[in-house]
Amino acid sequence: MLTVYTESEEETLNLGIKIGENIFYPSLIALIGELGSGKTTLVRGIARGMGIKARVKSPSFIIINEYPGVIPLYHFDLYRLNDPQEINSLGYEEYFYKKGGVVVIEWADKILEFLPSDYLEIRLKVEDLERRKLILLSRGDKKYSKLIEKLRENTKRGKIDVNTGNGNIPS
Ligand SMILES: Nc1ncnc2c1ncn2[C@@H]1O[C@H](COP(=O)(O)OP(=O)(O)OP(=O)(O)O)[C@@H](O)[C@H]1O
Ligand SMILES: [Mg+2]
Repeated sequence: MLTVYTESEEETLNLGIKIGENIFYPSLIALIGELGSGKTTLVRGIARGMGIKARVKSPSFIIINEYPGVIPLYHFDLYRLNDPQEINSLGYEEYFYKKGGVVVIEWADKILEFLPSDYLEIRLKVEDLERRKLILLSRGDKKYSKLIEKLRENTKRGKIDVNTGNGNIPS
């Protein structure tokens, strides 16, 4: 488990970039956090860290956005999902189990029972106007522990340090 505090949108973006630089695939990242806690900002950073040039937007009506890249990113935003069963109609299994890219899900707490056993859980909490607390956990078979350790190396006293460490994807 790793706890990171961010004090601006940019700092959350930087954490996302570090995750994106070090992510492997297939992988699944479950984001759990209230409105405005920084979920989309984090996805934006992850995309940037993965070398994806397109701008990540919150899907308004579409629930999944796909961003092609060296590794594709599949961005789910389940804000508008009323009933967990609705994700069956999206063909979610294809994304969660077969496509082999990086899947990031906003409001993942709505569909916990559909998630694979292994995933990276990130809980986001609004502590203040600009202060966010992010808790990263490797769920299941500890597949994500190495990534968390790598991020820990880039963290000093709970803050992401942008000046240390290298990712595995050249920019
Ligand atoms: N430390 C911070 N990290 C991220 N965003 C921050 C931070 N401080 C302030 N903000 C602001 O909070 C908002 C976060 O928006 P964002 O869309 O990333 O959140 P979200 O969790 O995806 O929201 P939603 O639940 O509506 O999808 C932005 O307006 C951003 O400027
Ligand atoms: Mg969002």
